[in-house]
Amino acid sequence: MFAATTLTGNKPEQYAQLADQARGLLHGEHDRVANAANLAALVFNSLPDLNWVGFYFFDGNELVVGPFQGLPACVRIPLGKGVCGTAARTGQTQRIEDVDAFPGHIACDAASRSELVIPLFAGDGSLVGVFDLDSPLRGRFDVDDQAGLEALARLYTDAIDRGPHA
Ligand code: SME
Repeated sequence: MFAATTLTGNKPEQYAQLADQARGLLHGEHDRVANAANLAALVFNSLPDLNWVGFYFFDGNELVVGPFQGLPACVRIPLGKGVCGTAARTGQTQRIEDVDAFPGHIACDAASRSELVIPLFAGDGSLVGVFDLDSPLRGRFDVDDQAGLEALARLYTDAIDRGPHA
């Protein structure tokens, strides 16, 4: 059974602890849905001030919602649309301090005020999808959050890369 531990220290230290927990959860498992589900649950229950944490997977045409924690979400997002589609198309993490100031932001949960979306690429460079976090607070995500969550995203893509279908 998983026991959540309280994260301590400064943000980089907290993210190092979270990464250790994520390594434990993903260890020996390469299934992309199972790992996405556990990572979303870990992050949602470990970090404060989040209202949505989850994955969108690229189906070869557009992004389709995967495992997440939070309110039901938009199912399909075309590449280039919204914060998620922009991250997927540009290959760049989108750290949005104020979603109302982002042209084309897709409001799945009206409570969302800031958002961090990390694009996910397999080892061969192909687009896997995105890891998306929403907060009800404006400016919730700083550069330390971005670095810590990008490290978690790498653990995820490394784990699924080790699978037989990679
Ligand atoms: N806000 C996102 C859509 C996904 S939800 O946040 C879960 C976007 O603009 O792409």
